[in-house]
Amino acid sequence: MRSNYLIGLLAMTLFACGGGKGQEKEEKKSELSSRDEVRLKQYQVEGAKVYATYCANCHQQDGKGLASLYPPLAGADYLLENLPRAACIIKNGQSKEIVVNGETYNQMMPGNPITNLEIAEVLTYIGNAWGNDAGLVGVKDVDKWLEECEEN
Ligand code: HEC
Repeated sequence: MRSNYLIGLLAMTLFACGGGKGQEKEEKKSELSSRDEVRLKQYQVEGAKVYATYCANCHQQDGKGLASLYPPLAGADYLLENLPRAACIIKNGQSKEIVVNGETYNQMMPGNPITNLEIAEVLTYIGNAWGNDAGLVGVKDVDKWLEECEEN
């Protein structure tokens, strides 16, 4: 009983000093962000492999695309302004006129037989390569985005 009382008193003192709860929150936050950081790195590594296999042929290893045939991904406003739309294009392909960084493209990109996890990985890779900085794209985001794709 007595030790409970002491612990209670100690906790109250800590709380009153502003240490207790705030500190706990800080710790939780940094734990979460370091887990996300690990995942970001992991997705970038895996995504680079997906990119090399499924995308680099057209968009090129440096993400700059190819002439008026294949649009760039490096610094691409089209990609970076709308990641959900990009997820749909990667999954389902697309053939209609689009404008990327002021250039008009009207070619066919085929859909890709890859999993939602691979889409999250490749999006994380292209979203953070070549000076892009979109951060981590989670697989749950991709699950949700793919349910809401418009016609391609
Ligand atoms: C056969 C060539 C080809 C392959 C392979 C290909 N793409 Fe594309 N991609 C295109 C073309 C062409 C367009 C433009 C389509 C249009 O005109 O509507 C495009 C458009 C895009 C766009 C939207 C425009 C932009 O530049 O932001 C993204 C994002 C994209 N591709 C990502 C990928 C990713 C990621 C992969 C691999 C999983 C991939 N593409 C594989 C040809 C390709």
